[in-house]
Amino acid sequence: MALGPNDFVSSDKGRSHWSPSDTPRLAPPPAIPFHRPLINAHHLSLLRATLDRGELGGAGETTATCQKLLQQRLLASQVLLTQSCTAALEMAALLLEVKAGDEVIMPSFTFVSTANAFVLRGATPVFVDIRPDTLNLDESEIERAISPRTKAIVAMHYAGVGCELNIIGALARNHGLALVEDAAQAIDAHYCDKALGTFGDLGTLSFHHTKNITSGEGGALIVNNPRFAERADVLWEKGTNRSAFKRNLVDRYSWIDLGGSHAPSELTASLLLSQLEEADYIKARKLEIWACYHEALSELEMRGFINRPQIPRECQHNAHFYWFLARDHAERETLIDHLAAANIAASSHYVPLHSAPAGRRFGKPCGPLAVTNSAAERIVRLPSYVGLEPADQARVVAAIQHFYLGSACP
Ligand SMILES: Cc1ncc(COP(=O)(O)O)c(C=O)c1O
Repeated sequence: MALGPNDFVSSDKGRSHWSPSDTPRLAPPPAIPFHRPLINAHHLSLLRATLDRGELGGAGETTATCQKLLQQRLLASQVLLTQSCTAALEMAALLLEVKAGDEVIMPSFTFVSTANAFVLRGATPVFVDIRPDTLNLDESEIERAISPRTKAIVAMHYAGVGCELNIIGALARNHGLALVEDAAQAIDAHYCDKALGTFGDLGTLSFHHTKNITSGEGGALIVNNPRFAERADVLWEKGTNRSAFKRNLVDRYSWIDLGGSHAPSELTASLLLSQLEEADYIKARKLEIWACYHEALSELEMRGFINRPQIPRECQHNAHFYWFLARDHAERETLIDHLAAANIAASSHYVPLHSAPAGRRFGKPCGPLAVTNSAAERIVRLPSYVGLEPADQARVVAAIQHFYLGSACP
């Protein structure tokens, strides 16, 4: 099970698991991992075809096909595949010309890359609290974080549910700020029927191993503001005007600006292509799993044991994962232990950035961030991958019900 550095799974902490010596005559229940990527014969055949073609470098034919497919799927004018969402965020910070002294507003409840990309340019992340229903940036808290130094707002769409983009977009416009969407978790999710990642000046996607659509590692930069289009191509092409050269606009290409090695290899792109071709199936299956958990856990919420996520009316989410909040930290830890003992890998989530060593060094919180702290202590995330068998999902639900209801469990 490969998770991100901020994904703490019970088994990582050496908690107690089922042990053969506890029940010598029973086989252990089969393990239900937190995540397992969808890999099938179609994926293998596209990888094979790429290997046979022998063109393995970056910026090739398959990369161009993926970019086109993503443009069509998201209705975006420019998409550049990258080696990760982290790389796409770093490109965004460069394009916005963020510099020392600038401030960038973002949630503290996010992955380190959201902040790191801007800290690398010398800026200060200003951490704003989140909403308890979606764990997304609390739009009502943003205005008081804006200062004359503010350069941009980063809206991270937690678990593939859109932030309140009408309000956040208007705030950015009214204050002359750039809007970046960290849509790492939000491929194929929408807000008011428009794809997440296409609202901001720039948007970023992740195709990391744990995401709905994966190429192992991978990401994309979505360029929505045409002001950045040409320079984005240059940054992507290692600081050269190779893209203009490929379009016969110049007769040779050379070094003209900053840049990096951002294009993934054709092998990565071919894995991504095979997953994109199955994107509708993946999303439908993830939504089924999400809905099944949501329904099955409704009684526990009604009885005051847990808080389930809420999907705002404007949002069409992608069921990236299912989460809920336990009543307190101790209960969350005991529940994760209980699930681990049943061979079920449940997970907590981010250590809030404002409380992490680098977050304290490089960033500053806007207010006490009470919802962020509480959510980080109480969140439980459940296994939800395309290959999760209904019987296994039922086992996860039964184990949670058993934890809360004991023998009253059906
Ligand atoms: C919100 C968020 N931003 C950025 C990233 C970084 O993505 P990647 O691993 O593709 O660099 C992640 C990864 O999980 C994430 O969840």
